[in-house]
Amino acid sequence: MSQFLPESILTWLPDTIQLLYLVATAYFIRGLKLLNSPQTARKGNMYAAVGMLIGVVVTLFDQHIVSFEYIIAGVLLGGLIGAVAAKKVAMTSMPELVAIFNGFGGGASALVAWGELSRTADVTGIDPTGLVTTGLSIFIGALTFTGSFIAFGKLKGFISGNAITFPGLNIINIGSMVGVLVLIGFFTFDPTNTTIFWIILGISLLIGVTSVIPIGGADMPVVISLLNSYSGLAASMAGFVLGNNLLIVSGALVGAAGLILTQIMCKAMNRSLANVIFGSFGGDGASGGGGGADGDKTVRETSAEDLAIQVAYASKVVIVPGYGLAVAQAQHIVKEVATKLEAKGVQVKYGIHPVAGRMPGHMNVLLAEADVPYDLLYDMDQINPEFASTDVVLIIGANDVVNPMAKTSPGSPIYGMPILNVDEAKRTIVFKRSLSVGYAGIDNPLFYEEKNQMFFGDAKKSLQALNEALNEV
Ligand code: TAP
Repeated sequence: MSQFLPESILTWLPDTIQLLYLVATAYFIRGLKLLNSPQTARKGNMYAAVGMLIGVVVTLFDQHIVSFEYIIAGVLLGGLIGAVAAKKVAMTSMPELVAIFNGFGGGASALVAWGELSRTADVTGIDPTGLVTTGLSIFIGALTFTGSFIAFGKLKGFISGNAITFPGLNIINIGSMVGVLVLIGFFTFDPTNTTIFWIILGISLLIGVTSVIPIGGADMPVVISLLNSYSGLAASMAGFVLGNNLLIVSGALVGAAGLILTQIMCKAMNRSLANVIFGSFGGDGASGGGGGADGDKTVRETSAEDLAIQVAYASKVVIVPGYGLAVAQAQHIVKEVATKLEAKGVQVKYGIHPVAGRMPGHMNVLLAEADVPYDLLYDMDQINPEFASTDVVLIIGANDVVNPMAKTSPGSPIYGMPILNVDEAKRTIVFKRSLSVGYAGIDNPLFYEEKNQMFFGDAKKSLQALNEALNEV
């Protein structure tokens, strides 16, 4: 675009571009800050989007832009595919969509570095920083690309969700990563050696496959968050290659945010990142398989009519949503039930566990979709002290996040995971289809406690029945 501008403007254009990049960065940081809470998350997205718009428009004025035809075609095609995909995706399939976005993000960064390298007439003139970042951009970008598509395949069921591994694979992966770093060193000394370049690219693509394939499908959300961080790092490296400050900073922000999110998820599951990556935990993540109830244990069942009486005459009810609520798409009906209870003078709150569901913020997003007021959403630390004064807790499609074994069974895979202390309430009601296990694959003693009742069935249908029964109370 700069070729159309008068000479007088061109003299101050580079400084103005850098200044506007700084403004865009400020928008990104403000957006990230606002994304911290469900109340401000929408605003945060808007801030980040404005930052991105400033970044894109300003970059179009950069004198390094050579051709607009491809940019316009790319914006139209990519924008169309992105808009259709985002509009059509079900909330429960969001991790798959994010996986694809990460994959393309990493792939794009690798392509940018590769493109920049191939259009440089004399590669020996590139400074060592440029060569190292080119190598790293290709390494991280390529492994993010293939790794993300393996994660996508596992979540979609195209590839087995089981941990596919063999003894020594972790060692091979670590060895290959070290090997690529050494090759990047060689490449920096001799950038004319295209064989080294192709080997770096090939091994990086392979590492993406071999490092994600041994991880169980149920751990894919954590892996996707980590790959998101990698895609940011790759973009940041591509920023160094292009000498673009905004790309360096925004890539670093994505890298850091992805890593923080990964850590939050690991902490909330009481697992180390190493355990997720090397532990082969979790199988395909589907509930219903294995485990289940011991034959001699008994559970008490309730019905819609009985439950309607219990909740309508309660003073305080806490709703605990879990993965099953998302599967059943019961967010709208749960809100209807809550509104009806509030009209009857019952105090209703929602208790949200940080890893309820299958992705960060899953429950918040679902409930926001049904216009549940944000001030009714309480996170784990806020709601836990309230259970002792709660009459009824409705646990809807949640399992692991309320499993007391996390506190009582040192041998259990979830031992040490912070949970919602629903067992402190006067009564708990569990909405699920059977006594099957959840993500962690373990039985839940809460189901058999005396003050617990099971309301068996699909969460949406059960809540619809409760909603109707409430009309009669
Ligand atoms: P889970 O422990 O996975 O339990 C979900 C329960 O929902 C299942 O036991 C299942 O029982 C029930 N269910 C499934 N479909 C249903 C339907 N249509 N109607 C009613 N119930 C249904 O869920 P949770 O308590 O939300 O815990 C989340 C788990 O995922 C944790 O272990 C967490 O560590 C893990 N995880 C979470 C994340 C993030 S960031 N959220 C990331 C990775 C892993 P039935 O089959 O008997 O119905």
